[in-house]
This record gives sequence, structure tokens and C-alpha cells, in this order.
Amino acid sequence: MLGLLLVACTRTETIPTGPSLKKTFADDFLIGTALSIGQIEEKDSLADALIREQFNALTAENIMKSMFLQPEWGKFDFALADKLVDYGKKNNMAIIGHTLVWHSQLPRFVYRLTDKDSVSEFFTNHITTVASRYDGKILGWDVVNEALNEDGTMRGSIFYRLLGEDYVTEAFRLAQLAAPNTELYYNDYNIEQPNKRAGAIALIKKIKEAGVRIDGVGIQGHWHARRIPLKDIEESILEYTALGLKVMITELDVELLPRNFTGADISERMKMKDDPAFNPYVAGVPDSVQQQLASDYEALFKLFLKHRDHITRVTFWGVNDGQSWLNGWPAPGRTNHPLLFDRDFKPKPAFYKVIEIKDNLN
Ligand code: XIL
Repeated sequence: MLGLLLVACTRTETIPTGPSLKKTFADDFLIGTALSIGQIEEKDSLADALIREQFNALTAENIMKSMFLQPEWGKFDFALADKLVDYGKKNNMAIIGHTLVWHSQLPRFVYRLTDKDSVSEFFTNHITTVASRYDGKILGWDVVNEALNEDGTMRGSIFYRLLGEDYVTEAFRLAQLAAPNTELYYNDYNIEQPNKRAGAIALIKKIKEAGVRIDGVGIQGHWHARRIPLKDIEESILEYTALGLKVMITELDVELLPRNFTGADISERMKMKDDPAFNPYVAGVPDSVQQQLASDYEALFKLFLKHRDHITRVTFWGVNDGQSWLNGWPAPGRTNHPLLFDRDFKPKPAFYKVIEIKDNLN
């Protein structure tokens, strides 16, 4: 017993008890993170302590996607999602549902559907069942994720092909009926880019013109070190706000490794080359790169603070670097360092930079 207690104490001692993101930005916006299955199951006490200390909004990294919630036609599995919702309630954290309608990570049976009626039945039943279960228990839903191509046209997803271009409006209509007490968002990557942004604005206007509710827009925020599109982000914040929407940064990470394309389409892959330049930071990040990451995050948070009246949440896509999906995508087996906490859950220079901005304002 004593041994256990000591282990627990030693582990907690390594947790930073210094500044907290959620406390620092408490008057500005929610600070969120994405939780893995293990984290939802509270399997790692270090991760758990950091989550409670730093964040006040939680998104499931995977388990609220349709392949997890409805693994077989009409058979739902809510165990982990319920657990996440309870965890949020217990710790006074907002829960964001991600996501009701997305062309990726669909249940296997959906890929086999070829007729409009079946897809429509799945679509209606999934949105209605899932959204109504958590109505009033979660803050908001990413109702539709990634419906657009880079040029702003509609992505030719299974929903678009079989249900027609109004499927997005229809998804919001169904979500509104099932979840009258939950905020409803459109979420996508690169929708700060002018062409895709124009497509998103047209889509949002269409939803509104149909008399259907949409409360916010989520800019995913999978950006690259040294190449943060600050001007596009600022213009987007203003243009989305002008439509009467809340703006959220929903999946923030700043990638350090080389890439031959931009965006965050999970079906795109890059071939792993047998060249160290392809995976340069296996042993750690040199100081100059840490400073680059810190200054990128500093610029982002300065911009977010400038628009704190319009931005309601900033969510990081993962708790620490070890968890980040960017270790496995777009090429497997790399060592990425895109977040504010390192693999040992220790705050990085970028963390302190972000906290300092606020300290300097006070
Ligand atoms: C990613 C998860 O982080 C991975 O664990 C999973 O294997 C694939 O999906 N845009 C989104 C997120 O909206 O749901 C994706 O999450 C990352 C890109």
C-alpha cells in the first residue's frame, strides 16, 4: 500500500504544477485537447493529471466517429463516449462531439452501400440516435466534417454522390431536431485558405437560408512550422464572424517534419524514404527548432487573443507529442513534435511562450 502511494507521489511530482493553459486563458476562450482511448479510460495517471490541470474542453480523437459508435448496422456502442461525457461532467469540462457526418472512418458496412435509400437511412438514423443521446450533455457537435475540396467545390463523398448536394443542410436539420440544446458546427481543414473559405461561406449561407441552425465553424488548424497562414486565418475569423458564427480552432498542431502536400486528408499518404532528412528529430528537437515552434505558437496565440471576442475555443489535437497522429501520418513511423507538451508530458518552450503572451498583457 505504502509502495503504491510512493509510486503515485513520485509520478505526480513530475507533473508541472506551474502555469495552466485553461487558467491563463479563462477569460478568453476554452482550451481543449483530443483524447485517445487510453486517456478516456484514465489508464495513464500522468496524462490524466495533465489533462485536468491544463484543459477545460475535450474532443474524442476517434471514439465518437461513426465507425466506433455504430460498428454494425443499427447496433450502437456508446460505452466509451458515455465515459468521456461522464469524465467531462466530473471535471467540469466541455465535451465536443466529433463527428456526426464524415466520409472517413465510416463503419465498414457503409462502404458497401450503393443505393440512395440505404445511405439515407443510415444517415438519418445515425445523426438522430447519436445527437439525441447527448443532447444537453455536450456543448457542441461537429455536425459535418470536411465536406469541401481545396477549390471550394463539394467533395464527392458517398453522401454527396448518393444524397445530393443538400446533404449538409439536411445533416444540420436532423441534428437541430435531435439536439436542440447543443451547438452545431461545420468543421474542416484549410478553410482559412481563400478558395476553400469561399466554399465554406457559401455552404454556411445555404444552411442559414434554409432556416436551419448552425452556430459555429471549426478551423481544424493542422499547420506547418514557419508557414502559419496568419493573414488568411485573421481574414477567416472576421468573415465567419460576420456570418454570425462562433469561430473555433479545433485540431491545432504545428508540424515540424517535411511534407510534399498540405492539408489533412487522412486518406492521403506520403512514401517513407530511407533518408534521415525525412525523419530528422528522432533523438529530439534542436534548440533552434524549439524556438521556431515557440514563435509560431506565439504568433498564433497573439492572433487568437486579438480576436478573443470571436473565438470561443482553441483545441489541440492531442495531449502530448507522443500521442500525436502526426507520428503516423502522412508517413508511418516518424517522430513528430507538434504540440506544447513533450513525450514526458513536460511543457516545451512553446508552452511558456504562449503563457507569457498573456502575462505580458496583464
Ligand atoms: C485522426 C486521428 O487523430 C487518428 O488517430 C486517426 O487514425 C485518423 O483521424 N481531421 C479530423 C480528425 O477531423 O478526426 C483526424 O483525426 C485528423 C484530421
